Amino acid sequence: MTSDADRGELFSEERSAEVVVNSMEGTRDPRLRQVLDSLVRHLHDFVKDVEPTEEEWGAAIAFLTATGHKCDAARQEFVLLSDVLGVSMLVETINHRAKGVATESTVLGPFHVVESPPRSLGADICLDHRGEPCLVTGRVTGPDGEPVGGATVDVWQADAEGYYDVQRPGEVPPANLRGLFTTQADGRFWFRTVMPRHYPIPDDGPVGALLEATGRHPYRPAHIHFLVRAAGYAPLTTHVFAADSPYLDSDAVFGVKPDLVRDFAVVEDPVRAAELGLPDRFREVEFDIVLLRAEE
Ligand SMILES: [Fe+2]
Repeated sequence: MTSDADRGELFSEERSAEVVVNSMEGTRDPRLRQVLDSLVRHLHDFVKDVEPTEEEWGAAIAFLTATGHKCDAARQEFVLLSDVLGVSMLVETINHRAKGVATESTVLGPFHVVESPPRSLGADICLDHRGEPCLVTGRVTGPDGEPVGGATVDVWQADAEGYYDVQRPGEVPPANLRGLFTTQADGRFWFRTVMPRHYPIPDDGPVGALLEATGRHPYRPAHIHFLVRAAGYAPLTTHVFAADSPYLDSDAVFGVKPDLVRDFAVVEDPVRAAELGLPDRFREVEFDIVLLRAEE
């Protein structure tokens, strides 16, 4: 609460945050007021800690301006900035605490920009057959182990050269390496694909310059994205990471959680390969998914 005596308080270095917070007393939305109060206090603390020169503050404004200018319909530089500062992962983690039961979540990332086409179980999502063949299997269950039939399992991944279809329009078939599957009654799903490759996040903009200035590389370890939804359960956004990929310990966007890393085993079994419509030598990963109930 602010007394009449505070209301007309003039700006001072010592009480800068309080003066600004008090000026926003009329904020009608209580959540907005809480957010702005905290933002102002942390921002003023930051400036008092760093004591930027006017040139440095100008450089900061120029950096954010350039970040905005780099954004368009296909490129979201502010999301990348949030990603490389670990804020995307923090927001994701706070909002989807797995409670020790459910599969861990991780970032959605910037490439879920087109709808995945519905495909039948077992379909090959690699439409140009370029890469090392791979079988992905798994089972969707609830927190008590109950099978979740009818769940949709939306998957998308980079190709064997580390590119998503939307990064190479015209060069690869549309919706290459994307698919929307529905689990059968026992919760099981499976599909064919190729091994995803590690890849760099777009680094030709201000965020790339930031990575360069801080001695960081732009790479993400090899992974397949999953977005799983089922009636009565909380949706889950996650990845499965390949245990033999580089950069597992230095993901540019901090997305790796140990529980999401799996062996993509080499299988040499002509009988199984023939049954599955795969070559004699293929890779296989099993990724079971546990959802929380919606009310949890
Ligand atoms: Fe990705």
